[in-house]
Amino acid sequence: MVAPGDATQTVRIELGERSYPILIGARLLDDPAAWAGLPRAHAAMIVTNSTVSPLYAARLANALRGHYAVVREVALPDGEAHKDWACLNQIFDALLGAGCDRKTVLFALGGGVVGDMTGFAAACYMRGVPFVQVPTTLLAQVDSSVGGKTAINHPLGKNMIGAFYQPERVVCDLDTLASLPPRELAAGLAEIVKYGPIADMAFMDWIETNADALLAREPRALAHAVRRSCEIKAWVVGQDERESGLRAILNFGHTFGHAIEAGLGYGAWLHGEAVGCGMVMAARLSQRLGLVDTAFVQRLTGLIARVGLPVTGPALGAQRYLELMRVDKKAEGGEIRFVLIDGPGRAVMRPAPDSLVCEVLAESTAA
Ligand code: NAD
Ligand code: GLY
Repeated sequence: MVAPGDATQTVRIELGERSYPILIGARLLDDPAAWAGLPRAHAAMIVTNSTVSPLYAARLANALRGHYAVVREVALPDGEAHKDWACLNQIFDALLGAGCDRKTVLFALGGGVVGDMTGFAAACYMRGVPFVQVPTTLLAQVDSSVGGKTAINHPLGKNMIGAFYQPERVVCDLDTLASLPPRELAAGLAEIVKYGPIADMAFMDWIETNADALLAREPRALAHAVRRSCEIKAWVVGQDERESGLRAILNFGHTFGHAIEAGLGYGAWLHGEAVGCGMVMAARLSQRLGLVDTAFVQRLTGLIARVGLPVTGPALGAQRYLELMRVDKKAEGGEIRFVLIDGPGRAVMRPAPDSLVCEVLAESTAA
């Protein structure tokens, strides 16, 4: 585990010629070593948003000036509601307006919204330019910046328009988490908790023991949580980059969660909040299918509540939930396929009868 003064840690994503490192440490934004060895180019473009820009963009720009003759910035409007075509176009407008060539390196400075949109812009601009993820939320450091999924939302479904496109590097400066609002910290903890039930129950034990330290943002606890999450994600993505099978386990809680996000309107609930509640629903469905016992469901529900996440979903109506979940990317021929827990520490993807899903929704949503 690292703390200020400790050495930077590196987790590698092994994807052949698309392999890259995830650097995890303190004060990395200002560390010239964090930015050395990236593709050479005349210009760099920092893509960020109106909240993160005043906090961190100048520091990143200063560090990058040691490597690029020109460092530009485009600050997008903040929020999940802006993860759309109009905002994506702002990135293209900035790149084309500044005459950026096909070697220009994009730096995604912000949370998962900025990271997903910058990655998609990088995949498309001049048919592909290099990009670097500089995640500044806990959620982005433990999940969204890693693995190359990029996307924007569509009014009919979340992350429906996108591409697999890997970054050159991920740089997680743990110090940036100090300015994160508590609600966003909790949202990030949802994706950390996710890794326990799907892959590593020893990590779930550790999270339970260290929940208070994580909520108090103790550097060593955060460093360990980020590193272990990235290790698990690297292990999964290294085997199944394009989600032909195993990678789907990373979507535990997401089928219900995406329905909540789309059903309420993007941004009403944070992505991590929806995933937290979605994990409770998926665990209950697993229990109804005889895959886990009630003690496991109670344990997971207790941990999700303890880190400050909702465990009761909004009352969208069962039919609306089902309709939204049929648009999920894992659905096949209109049949919803859920990521379920098949015994603690092991996930499986399978369909479930609508009647059981409706029972779970009746138990798990507000009256
Ligand atoms: P976000 O990007 O909206 O960031 C959350 C909020 O925190 C925003 O208001 C942002 O401006 C602010 N912020 C960011 N860094 C900050 C800092 N250091 N200090 C203060 N404020 C800061 O949300 P998120 O939770 O980071 O990401 C959610 C998004 O990630 C969703 O769109 C989700 O679909 C996507 N996602 C993608 C993947 C993937 O594999 N690509 C995985 C999980 C989630
Ligand atoms: N967050 C899901 C994935 O990266 O596959």
